[in-house]
Amino acid sequence: MSRNILVTSALPYANGHIHIGHLVEYLQTDIWVRFQKLRGNRALYICADDTHGTAIMIRARAEGRSEEELIAEMSQAHQRDFAGFHIAFDHYGSTHSDHNRAVCHEIWAALRRDGMVAEQEIDQLYDTQAQTFLADRFVRGTCPKCGSTNQPGDNCGHCGATYTPSALIDPLSTLSGTRPEVRSATHLFVRIEQLHDFLDHWTQSGTLPSESANYLKNFFLNSPLRDWDISRPAPYFGFEIPDSPGNYWYVWFDAPIGYIGSTSEWCAIHGEKLDDWWRSESTEIHHFIGKDIQYFHTLFWPAMLKTAGFSLPRFVHIHGFLTVEGEKMSKSRGTFVRASKYLEHLDPEYLRYYYATKLSSRVEDIDLNLGEFVARVNSDLVGKVVNLASRTARFIADTGLSDTYPDDGGLFVRFAARNEEIAEDYEKGDYGKAMRAIMELADLANPYVEESAPWELRKDPARVQELRDVCTVALNLFRTLVIYLSPVLPTLAEKASTLFDDPITHWDQAQTPLLGKVIGKFTHMMQRVDPKNIEKMLDESKEETASVSAPSNTSTTQTWSDSGDALAATPIAPEITIDDFAKLDLRVVRIIDAAEVPEARKLVRLILSLGGDETRQVFAGIKAAYDPATLIGRLVVMVANLAPRKMKFGESQGMIVAAGPGGEDIFLLSPDQGAQPGQRVG
Ligand code: 2FM
Ligand code: ZN
Repeated sequence: MSRNILVTSALPYANGHIHIGHLVEYLQTDIWVRFQKLRGNRALYICADDTHGTAIMIRARAEGRSEEELIAEMSQAHQRDFAGFHIAFDHYGSTHSDHNRAVCHEIWAALRRDGMVAEQEIDQLYDTQAQTFLADRFVRGTCPKCGSTNQPGDNCGHCGATYTPSALIDPLSTLSGTRPEVRSATHLFVRIEQLHDFLDHWTQSGTLPSESANYLKNFFLNSPLRDWDISRPAPYFGFEIPDSPGNYWYVWFDAPIGYIGSTSEWCAIHGEKLDDWWRSESTEIHHFIGKDIQYFHTLFWPAMLKTAGFSLPRFVHIHGFLTVEGEKMSKSRGTFVRASKYLEHLDPEYLRYYYATKLSSRVEDIDLNLGEFVARVNSDLVGKVVNLASRTARFIADTGLSDTYPDDGGLFVRFAARNEEIAEDYEKGDYGKAMRAIMELADLANPYVEESAPWELRKDPARVQELRDVCTVALNLFRTLVIYLSPVLPTLAEKASTLFDDPITHWDQAQTPLLGKVIGKFTHMMQRVDPKNIEKMLDESKEETASVSAPSNTSTTQTWSDSGDALAATPIAPEITIDDFAKLDLRVVRIIDAAEVPEARKLVRLILSLGGDETRQVFAGIKAAYDPATLIGRLVVMVANLAPRKMKFGESQGMIVAAGPGGEDIFLLSPDQGAQPGQRVG
């Protein structure tokens, strides 16, 4: 019986482009959806952009435009990239939609009704310069447990401790580089502990990969489930909470709701009922996500669905991360490759196939090994599959396929018999296993062609029927392989459909050979991977990174009208030689302490770190322009070889550089991100 299946991939953030790491998930899901459709099931593939939060707000501000304009542009870019990889969503929406807002309201009302919302006063870090509360990932500092530096605001990458951002030692805002201050605000929390037993049971009931289910067991053992902080005070780009003016739902509240919101949009377009998809026993819901976001999808999300009477997912498919050549994707090595950059150089079907060979139902990382990538595609797809057609199709252009299926020693029957086993592998997400089974079959077909040598048969006009029979067998074996591969390789499937003038639309087509048909003209089906194109892609990815991180003052679409007053007030000084300049030793330093000098009207006492144990004390006349507390942690530039000067309050051992006429108009110079204390400037 045909199944009704609603499938989702995680909603990508609207503040970044799609890269080959993201594609693991979207390709994995797309293959699964295509497989389900090919099996005759009704499957609906839903996705959307995840648009809310501080990151989008800050970026829109920096780019001087509205958040709406920014997310519209990113949505276009995401959809273009996905389409380039043949990822075929049935609907691609946005979390910033009226449909999503309506579902958020509905779920919120249910949470309130069941007494699951509580208020709590919490301390949060506030960036006074960027004028915003800081989300966990916009803060870095020293882990309060193990003392590792440069750790994010929620958990330590070194010792794994979890904490609140305000517990970080020496926190720094990644937005402005300044030290944030702790401000207290009322937040709204969802108490999922009320659903402890339900969640405990649900997570252990076969709805998750076993690794994840086992990992979650610990959460239920002794302590209550943690309340979930789902509100953020203004300013915030999101939906305002209806009964809590000035507070917005945290992006992670409305993101998964976007699965329903986007389905609701699709229903409105297609005249369907949302409840048939999200409140129906006869619809299965399948989420595909990465292991980094399982906490949200396996505890909070089911709690919300349960409370509001929506269906729970039948299964949450969880994958690991992508590494490239055994390492994390790296901008400097060029392995942080954007989807659009890949498409400039390589065929999307290569990556679809390569990822398929690596994916399993286990929650494990997969590695993109570029040498293996070339070998797999060239040897399997071009060498074993496409070759079957390219070596035979031309020979029967005039005669067409034989009218009855020739004796092939049982090959076709063997091919057809593997279909359920391969289907089961697809169903479970064991694509690697499915690909291996398909290539085993290809390994049986190729010796048949070798031994039958159609290129010899064609030289003898008396053996024309023999030639026709051999080609009929080879092409039918080829077609069976393509049907099995078609969820992974939709373009190859289309080309084969055209060749046979017989669209591939159902898995069961692999059970019956095509006979007595004229076939189309053979056209090239797949090129071999040229390793030079991989090199180019990596090189350009490096360059792209370099140009992205450079200040974008070369834009041709912007004009500036800066006044000439500053230059007129202080004309350029007399010329010096490079040797004169070389005498100046300018260094990047971090301000590790800053305090007003009470006895001095203008001065702030700064302790500057040159890295390691090297520090300098400098008195700077910046009191009117800067609150010392906001300076701590910031990188600035100092003249490090200026002769020390005795002052009333102590020795000043250098000078920090700044622009501006003085008083309140002083502007400290800061290096771009990535600079390290102690580096020479010049
Ligand atoms: O981790 C992420 O990229 C999130 N944008 C995923 C959201 S998935 C769902 F909850 F919307
Ligand atoms: Zn730690």
